[in-house]
This record gives sequence, structure tokens and C-alpha cells, in this order.
Amino acid sequence: MFEFVFFILFTPGVSGFFCTSSDLELSYTFCDSSSHYFKFNVTPCSMLNKSVWYAAVTWIPKSDVTFLKIVFTVWYEGARALQWGEVLCSGTDDEYSLCGRLKGETIDTEFDIKGKRTLFPKGHYIVVLQAFSDDSEKNIITCLNFTMIVKQDSF
Ligand SMILES: *[C@@H]1O[C@H](CO)[C@@H](O)[C@H](O)[C@H]1NC(C)=O
Ligand SMILES: *[C@@H]1O[C@H](CO)[C@@H](O)[C@H](O)[C@H]1NC(C)=O
Repeated sequence: MFEFVFFILFTPGVSGFFCTSSDLELSYTFCDSSSHYFKFNVTPCSMLNKSVWYAAVTWIPKSDVTFLKIVFTVWYEGARALQWGEVLCSGTDDEYSLCGRLKGETIDTEFDIKGKRTLFPKGHYIVVLQAFSDDSEKNIITCLNFTMIVKQDSF
């Protein structure tokens, strides 16, 4: 689950529906009303199809990406299931290509999602992802609210 939600991080942008199939629906909105440039696509849109997920993202950040901490809060069927945070960019030896990118720069990324989809039982999930530019979680950069509906168990 961590890996899966983690990769979803790279999906800030437009709100609205972005993926639907007979066994899965994914959509997201921004928690606030600020405008963001963001495009995200994932194929195949399925928990049952065993192909590796392939994602394409275009994002124009509104501030330089020097320090970046993300916090996920996951609700499953209306109950808070888990909260998890991680520093992605600290300014030195950053592993992720989006670290160090400048405000206004267009970030185009494509990657495989290797998360274990079988960890998601059938049900309704809400994943709130907050991104902060400081470790003490005072300066919020963006907040995304994902809805994921798993229509069939994949195990
Ligand atoms: C996320 O969306 C759900 C329903 O779509 C809503 O109930 C919830 O309050 C939202 N959370 C945030 C932090 O915006
Ligand atoms: C699984 O997804 C791949 C890649 O999108 C597609 O080529 C393949 O036909 C799909 N298989 C099934 C059984 O839907």
C-alpha cells in the first residue's frame, strides 16, 4: 500500500475523474480551491490486470522543489486506516528527479508503479495527500483528495 500511495504523489493537478474500469475507479480533487497545473494518467486502470502499471505525469510546481515532505492519510470505508509521512527531497543526495526542480518548470515524468495491488481489498478508499515545504508541517504546498473504489478483490 505504501508504494502505491507513494507514487500517486506525483499526481497533483486538475481535479476530476481520471480512470475507470470494471474493477477500479480513481479520481481526485484538490482540498483547497487553488489552481494547479497537473495531468496524470495510469494504464491499465485495473487491479485485476497483472500488467505493471505505467503512469505519465505532467506537473508545473508553483514553488521550487527544494524540501518536500508528504503525509498520507488513508480512510477505508469511512474509518481512518493509516497515516504515514516521508521526506522526499531534503536538498542533498535526493533520489527523486523532481527534487531541485524550479518553480514554473514543466516536469514530465513517466514511471512504472510496482505497488502490490493485492493489498487493497474491495471497498471505498479516501487518500488525503498533503505536501509540505518544511519538516514541521507548517507550510503546506498542496493537498490532494483521492477517491479510489476497488470493485473486486484481486486475490
Ligand atoms: C475528501 O473528500 C471527501 C469526499 O469526497 C470528503 O468527505 C472529505 O472531507 C475530503 N477531505 C479533505 C481533506 O478535503
Ligand atoms: C492488461 O493491460 C495491458 C496493458 O494495458 C493490455 O495490453 C492487456 O490487454 C490487458 N489484459 C487484460 C486481460 O485486460
